[in-house]
Amino acid sequence: MGRWVRVASVGECPPGTARECVAEERIVAVFNVGGRLHALDGICPHQGGPLGRGALAGHMVTCPWHGWQFDVRTGQHAASPTRCHLVLPIRVLGDDVLVWLDDDEATGGRA
Ligand code: FES
Repeated sequence: MGRWVRVASVGECPPGTARECVAEERIVAVFNVGGRLHALDGICPHQGGPLGRGALAGHMVTCPWHGWQFDVRTGQHAASPTRCHLVLPIRVLGDDVLVWLDDDEATGGRA
């Protein structure tokens, strides 16, 4: 089961930025690439770094802790084609940015 959860206003996510958000009890990283929003699970799969506080260059985010890089559109790791980080559906409703939280994904489908 899942639901849309508000994480920010549109104005808080201007083009070219990364933002760390809290969606209920989850950390979510929201990115605006050229006016298009993307969302990843906000916890870096390496050692838990804050992807939403990473540097965004084009569609690539660099984790601020050790530099792992991910394509914010697909979650694909830049150097490891077999490693893919969780992408969250994202939408805008009025002035609100919403992400889709899936309860099964929150536990990696192991609930
Ligand atoms: S925690 Fe993100 S690269 Fe290490």
